[in-house]
Amino acid sequence: MSYPSMESDDDDDISECNADEGDFYELLIAGERVGEWLDTIRNRDKTKVVRLRAVRELTAAMDTKEAYAEEARQAEAATVLTKALTLTQDEELMDAISAAISVCGGALSRGSTSREFDFLGYKVRIKESSLGDGLGARMWGASYLMCKDLASAPSLLAGKRVLELGAGVGVCGLLARELGAERVVLTEALFPGVLKNLADSAAFHCEAASDLPPDTCPAGEDAPYRTAKGVPCMRWHPDGRGTGTHVSPGDLRFDYGNVSVRYLDWSEEDDKVTESSLAPGLPPRLPPDEKFEVILVCDCLYEMEHATWLPLAIASRLAPHGRCHILCPVRYEDMFKAFRSNIRSRGLRVSVEVAQDSEWDRAGIRGSAEYPGGFTRLRIEWLTSPATDWDRTHMEWCTY
Ligand SMILES: C[S@@+](CC[C@H](N)C(=O)[O-])C[C@H]1O[C@@H](n2cnc3c(N)ncnc32)[C@H](O)[C@@H]1O
Repeated sequence: MSYPSMESDDDDDISECNADEGDFYELLIAGERVGEWLDTIRNRDKTKVVRLRAVRELTAAMDTKEAYAEEARQAEAATVLTKALTLTQDEELMDAISAAISVCGGALSRGSTSREFDFLGYKVRIKESSLGDGLGARMWGASYLMCKDLASAPSLLAGKRVLELGAGVGVCGLLARELGAERVVLTEALFPGVLKNLADSAAFHCEAASDLPPDTCPAGEDAPYRTAKGVPCMRWHPDGRGTGTHVSPGDLRFDYGNVSVRYLDWSEEDDKVTESSLAPGLPPRLPPDEKFEVILVCDCLYEMEHATWLPLAIASRLAPHGRCHILCPVRYEDMFKAFRSNIRSRGLRVSVEVAQDSEWDRAGIRGSAEYPGGFTRLRIEWLTSPATDWDRTHMEWCTY
């Protein structure tokens, strides 16, 4: 799989770039194969022929397939190979291991990549690492469709406090910033590689999007400004100070003006945890009482527990009269049924709209045909304090 370093909003290219089920399964298989090869290379009881074959197969796989290079990185193949090199006197084996180490060096350097999108004139830049860091380290097709929806209705986000759950690389939340959201919080579970990449992505976007000269923002203050599209917005401080929590210099920051990265695990939303700090280098926990006018969720229903946890997280974070927008492929209809029922039991209501084939064909999202229910949009609000600003033309509240 190729990872172009900067993408434009070219629909034909998108199918090659967003993560999908195929990538995930390839990674699982790659993980097993790399593990087997490394075990064989380590094992000095194996014959030279067998070990040589393992080294050569590993080298070829790392050289040609991103998933294998990533798994080799995760398994610290370079360390295993270097040790194996010191423990053999056989020249043929030494040559093969040396070649493998140099391919490993190349594989290791393919860390983070950057992409740029233009959604109807609103630009978003993101960083991605690899699926080996966690599913959220790459952007998924549902996010791409959601961004198209958001960019076509910017008034739904302008001036709002926006939370993205299971944000992954944060593309929807970062677009919300460009659409004039007052505050954007990008959240993820405790997958350190995903959280760090998310912070990196936020930094990459916010730094690029800052378009005012430094002296227009007095030290210590957030000055209101307008994005390139003229939407009122907040800007980040050009000297690198955020408005919130900082980690020690040299580490990632988690606040960029009105954009913050926070830890939020859906399953813990009942616990009312007040302690805020995680391990050093990871973002703080989102305080239990912070609520939002808009919640964005993309491709976060893929395990049965999610049908219980997500309604819990949405109910605990959605402000009265707020709106929650979900875009998801439907992998198992039963999971969606359970989700809808759990949403209703929390005093919320949900409407469902199936995205048309033509929409994802246009977006070129690879893998869409793999989902039995295609892609679906869910819109959620409180039964007793509904949102005031939905376009309700296509909405029917589910009773099933
Ligand atoms: C398929 S990825 C989608 C990522 C992103 N929303 C997108 O569409 O590109 C699912 C995301 O949900 C996150 N996730 C899974 N379980 C979670 C939990 N219990 N709490 C918070 N996030 C979770 C994963 O880390 C991952 O980023």
